[in-house]
Amino acid sequence: MADRYAVFGNPIAHSKSPLIHAAFARQTAQDLTYEAILAPLDGFADSIGQFVQSGGRGANVTVPFKEEAFRLAHMLTERAAKAGAVNTLVFADDKITGDNTDGAGLVHDIRDNHGYLITDKRILLMGAGGAARGVILPLLAESPISLTVANRTVEKAAALRDHFNNITASSYQTLAGQSFDLIINATSSGLSGELPPLPAGIFAEGALAYDMMYGRETPFMAFARRHVAQVADGLGMLVEQAAEAFYVWRGVRPQTAPVIAQLRG
Ligand code: ATR
Repeated sequence: MADRYAVFGNPIAHSKSPLIHAAFARQTAQDLTYEAILAPLDGFADSIGQFVQSGGRGANVTVPFKEEAFRLAHMLTERAAKAGAVNTLVFADDKITGDNTDGAGLVHDIRDNHGYLITDKRILLMGAGGAARGVILPLLAESPISLTVANRTVEKAAALRDHFNNITASSYQTLAGQSFDLIINATSSGLSGELPPLPAGIFAEGALAYDMMYGRETPFMAFARRHVAQVADGLGMLVEQAAEAFYVWRGVRPQTAPVIAQLRG
């Protein structure tokens, strides 16, 4: 019988993960199935338990269960422990291991797909919620010159600064007069069609503007285009975090470029 995997979320109907993992499995000739499972908002642990009972080997976890998955895991990888959130679960020997492949996905997309070296760059990360927190450790591992976290509620950025070494916390106002080589939008502002209040001159020459959202042009992407920054959306990150999870489960690294092209098509 094929090995079973699934993504758990609520809502989950529009998840692209089943399509992505089916493409990876075909490409690498791995015998597995991957489905989308809607977990009740108050029933995530039970859903996972049933899946494990029925032979599930691993799972992805998406909104709003990443923190709950973190608490459910018996063991954590370092990147999941630092992120405080889990998007990848491995079920083996009656134990659940929690991992987080989001940051690796972001770094792979920026570095390998967009050909943009993070090393020796000044990074501005906007947002201090789960999405931002999940990518800080892998970004720091690329040895940037600096990593500044800006948030509307500056206390949350300060809390991240206290949790991670080597980052600076900032409000949007105090960014005035500074410029950055890589600006990453990890806020949910795009969902409400809003633009974080970035001062003029924030993009250094040749800067890359990266929005973790995909499927729509956010105000941040439009703003970046007006300032001649190179612009990327989060579709590549979605595929890369899936590839990293696939590698964790199967020990095989699928090619991502054809899958990204398929999704864009
Ligand atoms: P996620 O898990 O996606 O990170 P979250 O934890 O709710 O979601 O965090 C949302 C982030 O987007 C927060 O950093 C939030 O800023 P506040 O902490 O000040 O609320 C940020 N955010 C949402 N809308 C925003 C907007 N219009 N401008 C700037 N930041 C915004």
